[in-house]
Amino acid sequence: MKKIVLGITGSIAAYTSCDLVRLFVKGGFNVRTIMTEHATMLIAPLTFEVLSGNPVSTDKTSWENRSIEHLSLRDGASLFLVAPATANTVAKFASGIADDLLSTTYVSLQCPVVIAPAMNPTMYRHSRVQDNIEVLKNRGVLFVEPDDGDVVCSEEGTGRFADITKIYEVAIHAIA
Ligand SMILES: Cc1cc2nc3c(=O)[nH]c(=O)nc-3n(C[C@H](O)[C@H](O)[C@H](O)COP(=O)(O)O)c2cc1C
Repeated sequence: MKKIVLGITGSIAAYTSCDLVRLFVKGGFNVRTIMTEHATMLIAPLTFEVLSGNPVSTDKTSWENRSIEHLSLRDGASLFLVAPATANTVAKFASGIADDLLSTTYVSLQCPVVIAPAMNPTMYRHSRVQDNIEVLKNRGVLFVEPDDGDVVCSEEGTGRFADITKIYEVAIHAIA
């Protein structure tokens, strides 16, 4: 069974990833979820635990378990997918900051990486965000571009979390 490490960050779109986990489980994948601290403020880790059938890793669990979780999560992974990815996490990956479980896992692994950003359209257009995306693309990271329209803040433009079927297809392609 192929292992997917799924990172969930502090975006309002985090709840949408519940259906993404269900798609991967249906597709026969072993989904190991890492949530940032801000993600756990938006949705309970238990939800992803039940849907994936695996314990969810957070900064708290990695310290409580006294394990080197970023390495055990990385081992045997066929894909590292971050969906949704905040501007903050994209910036950390681009600059190599490893100050939490998710960003430490990113700098520890060698499997394909797919990122699906989700944010307010003004944030997404910001030159620093675009620069960070470019840096990661140049390092071989695949991006699932956000969609246009209907975001929670009612602003126009690109930033809406991509459709999960699109993310699923890019993920499958990356694994293949
Ligand atoms: C309700 C709420 C929704 C948010 N949604 C987003 C979002 O969609 N995209 C984003 O980049 N930041 C969003 N943020 C801001 C991030 O949560 C914040 O930048 C945080 O530091 C991200 O941390 P993380 O990348 O470690 O999860 C949101 C914040 C709140 C309070």
